[in-house]
Amino acid sequence: MNTPVSISTRVDPSSVPFRALPDGARIPVVGLGTFGSDSVTGDQIAAAVIDAADVGYRHFDCASVYSNEHLVGKSLTTIMKQGVARKDLWITSKLWNNKHGEAEVIPSCRQSLKDLQLEYLDLYLVHWPFPNFHPPGCTVDSRSPDSKPYIHENFMRTWRQMERLVDLGLVRHIGTSNVTIPKLKLILRDARIKPAVNEMELHPHFQQPELFRFVQENGIVPIGYSPVGSPARPERDRTADDTVDIEDPVLIEIARRHGIHPATLCVKWAVQRGQIPIPFSTKRRNYLANLQAAVTPPLTDAEMSAIAGLDRNCRLIKGQVFLWKDNQSWTDLWDLDGKIAT
Ligand SMILES: NC(=O)c1ccc[n+]([C@@H]2O[C@H](COP(=O)([O-])OP(=O)(O)OC[C@H]3O[C@@H](n4cnc5c(N)ncnc54)[C@H](OP(=O)(O)O)[C@@H]3O)[C@@H](O)[C@H]2O)c1
Repeated sequence: MNTPVSISTRVDPSSVPFRALPDGARIPVVGLGTFGSDSVTGDQIAAAVIDAADVGYRHFDCASVYSNEHLVGKSLTTIMKQGVARKDLWITSKLWNNKHGEAEVIPSCRQSLKDLQLEYLDLYLVHWPFPNFHPPGCTVDSRSPDSKPYIHENFMRTWRQMERLVDLGLVRHIGTSNVTIPKLKLILRDARIKPAVNEMELHPHFQQPELFRFVQENGIVPIGYSPVGSPARPERDRTADDTVDIEDPVLIEIARRHGIHPATLCVKWAVQRGQIPIPFSTKRRNYLANLQAAVTPPLTDAEMSAIAGLDRNCRLIKGQVFLWKDNQSWTDLWDLDGKIAT
């Protein structure tokens, strides 16, 4: 007679490793993304948030531009009514690009708090370093007429308000997202409260080794977005040259050896490398597997080196909609020559 195989359907949240911030705060090493890529509805995501908490998730990555914080907030309230303490949750939200004005930062954060039904956020990020709005669901050639390049003095005006949010107790930590080394150097030079975290695109085909190292060397925790290679990303974020991580034969072979999906392997590699992946999923089987990846036996050194060798420098979220001039290349957003593009 076969022995029944016990398939775990939950992960004990206290067994999920965390990364510690200088003030002792602890971020669970896997979070659930909540951006539906313009195709998954807010209600589906809100349902996944409740169920992911049941599975063991305590970390949720939100943003006002995802247009679902009011629904995610209901889910967070449900989760807390079910017995999860607020202090055991890690909730991130982000300031959208059309709210960089000095008078807009605090009200925008208050709106996210209201929508999320929370008294404070664990982390509030400046979503992009450009004050360039694009509406949800727009196309790749969408540009806002008053778009600007990165202007450090303006960014610091926004950052001063982010710092005030910490002073006011509305936010525990602040951070950056989609910045480059030259921009971060200036921000670190001028910030009173340094970014605790930098959220950046990170997956096996886009490992950003220099920025990753710079962030870690400066005591900033890297959060990796699109950790699976964002296979369902919106049309505006696709180009013919993009590669597909989860179809990489090396990843497929290592995943097969571990009995997991290549997507889950991407998450596992990310945790072991030292970033905090925030995979999006609305399928219980998948978000359970992604959290389990943080608590199952590690990849071998040889497997980690094999994946390190897969980097294709393939940025998927290029940010074309944030460009500020006609006939510009998206590479201007990313300061590839080490200088901030103007
Ligand atoms: N700061 C920023 O500017 C920024 C930018 C982009 C994203 N983000 C954040 O990062 C989060 C994740 O990024 P993303 O949504 O672009 O991409 P992603 O997490 O790399 O990919 C999500 C896709 O992968 C699939 N997937 C996830 N786990 C899987 C598994 N174990 N097996 C098979 N398929 C799996 C999901 O499908 P199923 O639903 O079918 O499982 C979903 O279609 C976002 O939700 C958002 O919170 C932040």
